[in-house]
Amino acid sequence: MIGYVVSIGDWNLRSVVVGDVSYPYHYGVDCLESMAASFGSFDADRFLVVTDDNVLGLYGERILRVLSTLAPVEVFSRPAGDGAKSLLNLGACLEQAIGAGVTRRSVVVAFGGGVPGNLAGVVASLLFRGVRLVHVPTTTVAAMDSVISLKQAINSSRGKNHIGTYRAPEGVYLDARVLATLPAKQLRSGLCEATKNCLAIRPESVGPMRDRLAAGDLASPATLLWLLEESLAAKCAVMERDTYEQGAGLVLEYGHTLGHAVELCDQRLRGADGLSHGEAVMLGMIAAAHISRAAGGLSDTEVAVHVDLAEALGVGAAVPSGLSTDDVMQVVRADNKRGYLHVSDEEAAMVLLQRLGEPFGSRDLPLTAVPLGAVKEALGALMPVSGS
Ligand SMILES: NC(=O)c1ccc[n+]([C@@H]2O[C@H](COP(=O)([O-])OP(=O)(O)OC[C@H]3O[C@@H](n4cnc5c(N)ncnc54)[C@H](O)[C@@H]3O)[C@@H](O)[C@H]2O)c1
Repeated sequence: MIGYVVSIGDWNLRSVVVGDVSYPYHYGVDCLESMAASFGSFDADRFLVVTDDNVLGLYGERILRVLSTLAPVEVFSRPAGDGAKSLLNLGACLEQAIGAGVTRRSVVVAFGGGVPGNLAGVVASLLFRGVRLVHVPTTTVAAMDSVISLKQAINSSRGKNHIGTYRAPEGVYLDARVLATLPAKQLRSGLCEATKNCLAIRPESVGPMRDRLAAGDLASPATLLWLLEESLAAKCAVMERDTYEQGAGLVLEYGHTLGHAVELCDQRLRGADGLSHGEAVMLGMIAAAHISRAAGGLSDTEVAVHVDLAEALGVGAAVPSGLSTDDVMQVVRADNKRGYLHVSDEEAAMVLLQRLGEPFGSRDLPLTAVPLGAVKEALGALMPVSGS
């Protein structure tokens, strides 16, 4: 059952509580311009809009028209893609902002998916040691995941998210209608992360989620706002005592150990045609579910729920063909959760579930040392049958 009324032409408000920090999340349908008009309350002397060329082309005119009635607007836009989260672009954005006259009274507006969102977050942290940040997410990943977190990061030449800060926004403003233009793969990516929240944190939502997926039309604003509400409830539940996602918040890493490794190897192989982050995490969750069952946790039925949800989301239950088990396992060995739990060279630190919504380990460290042999076996079960 939907616990709220979708207000067309208006927006709803919820408070995101992360440790001792809280910020408002405004969301609705067909409300981009009216939300932007409310930015007048920031009394900014200038807006620095950080975006990508796709988002700028699709929605830039609508938001810039409104913002420019409030204060001068400086736009920093780069071609879409994770490559935009670079030191080069960070430097270019900071220089452009200062050259344009941005001051401590200015507001950085992150307009787009997680990529412009993260770049803008680092920029807002560094300009004059910190200026105000507002998120206007336009992807499911940004809306349901990255803006419900203080983590902001860009990539080094050696890997993802190596350079970053924690920064809370003044607020988040989502018009769910803009999500309708997302390509299917991109839409699915955020929905897989929302599914993770149900499986690992809010099992009571698994049934309603299955019903919604079965009804189809994942892109409808009503379904997207329901998933957003679920993501807010799940993420706030684990992060209210864990500002930096280094304790209870680690449960959000469910499916990420193998998922991240599969994502990286597939993108090396197929580039932009590779699996999205969320799709890879969904596969990682299936593997983690099998390992959880073997460790005396999840039941067969609960493992089957993972596979059913993956199929309903159109992800399937096998990794793409062409991936090498050894390459994937090499990435698993370097997984960054090792630092949170002492593991040997032959183990990986993973989130495993005793039951849906109940990780093994303690509430403040929901990680388990898993022998790499068990991870490899679970990966093997996800390998496509040859010839298929
Ligand atoms: N805690 C965190 O900070 C956190 C959490 C999750 C992900 N992330 C980061 O987020 C990034 C991934 O985010 P993403 O998946 O949103 O990627 P993204 O920002 O690259 O957007 C994906 C694609 O969708 C396009 N797009 C954006 N909005 C659109 C719209 N409304 N209609 C049509 N196309 C649109 C973009 O131009 C881009 O091509 C990664 O860098 C990841 O590290 C951070």
